[in-house]
Amino acid sequence: MSVHVGLARAEEARATMVELFPEGFEEVDEAGGIELAAYTDAAGEERLWHFFGSARGDEVEAGWEDRWRIFHRPVHVGRLWIGPPWEQASEDVLVVVIDPGRAFGTGSHPTTQLCLQFLQELEPSSLLDVGCGSGVLSIAGALLGFHPVVGVDIEAPSIEATRDNARSNGVEIDARLVRAEDPLPSAEAAVANISIASVEALAGRLDARLLVTSGYFISEQPVLSGYRHADRRAMNEWASDLYERA
Ligand SMILES: C[S@@+](CC[C@H](N)C(=O)[O-])C[C@H]1O[C@@H](n2cnc3c(N)ncnc32)[C@H](O)[C@@H]1O
Repeated sequence: MSVHVGLARAEEARATMVELFPEGFEEVDEAGGIELAAYTDAAGEERLWHFFGSARGDEVEAGWEDRWRIFHRPVHVGRLWIGPPWEQASEDVLVVVIDPGRAFGTGSHPTTQLCLQFLQELEPSSLLDVGCGSGVLSIAGALLGFHPVVGVDIEAPSIEATRDNARSNGVEIDARLVRAEDPLPSAEAAVANISIASVEALAGRLDARLLVTSGYFISEQPVLSGYRHADRRAMNEWASDLYERA
């Protein structure tokens, strides 16, 4: 399901979508506004209708797979090109081909792009990707030299998508289904593009020296026990932070 919103309501609409779909949603710029979309069922459709009323867009009914293609456009982030299988990458880039299936993470969302920026600035090491979704950050990490790479997610379709995408990109990712409270594997660096509440809950469960976080707005700043804040990036009202073990 998708909604079209004018620029004046964009920030409020994004905040609503974060609450309605904490597992993730997509965003594309349109003339005079933005389109926000989430993979959802009838219950999600009802929630969208409740919050957006007449602003609700057309249903993604028959042929929704094709319709999703409008949200899956290639992006360049530093040395990385992230795009769908039906697009052609330019030369001299590290190519990350993502077919998200029903998992979040085409690479185009600002929070994903901000995490990709930080990953390119870190010294490659072992990597834990918490909330791997389509596997986009795990795969980019592996291509950048991080090893081993473990991706965890609370949703089974994300694990399936991460494994499929890792295979088609020719990289090795250990993708594991976890519950929100499960212990997590240790790694030198971790990346977590999840909600701010989940990011804050994560710090105590994590054994990583470096932590890249995102999934929240520039007006928000996670407070992470045991970590000190090192850097911050922002894009289209979304923020990403780098933390180091205190
Ligand atoms: C916004 S998507 C990020 C996907 C991808 N990493 C990216 O950056 O594009 C968030 C993902 O985190 C997962 N998730 C949410 N809370 C989680 C938690 N506490 N532990 C692990 N995964 C979580 C969701 O199922 C979803 O796949």
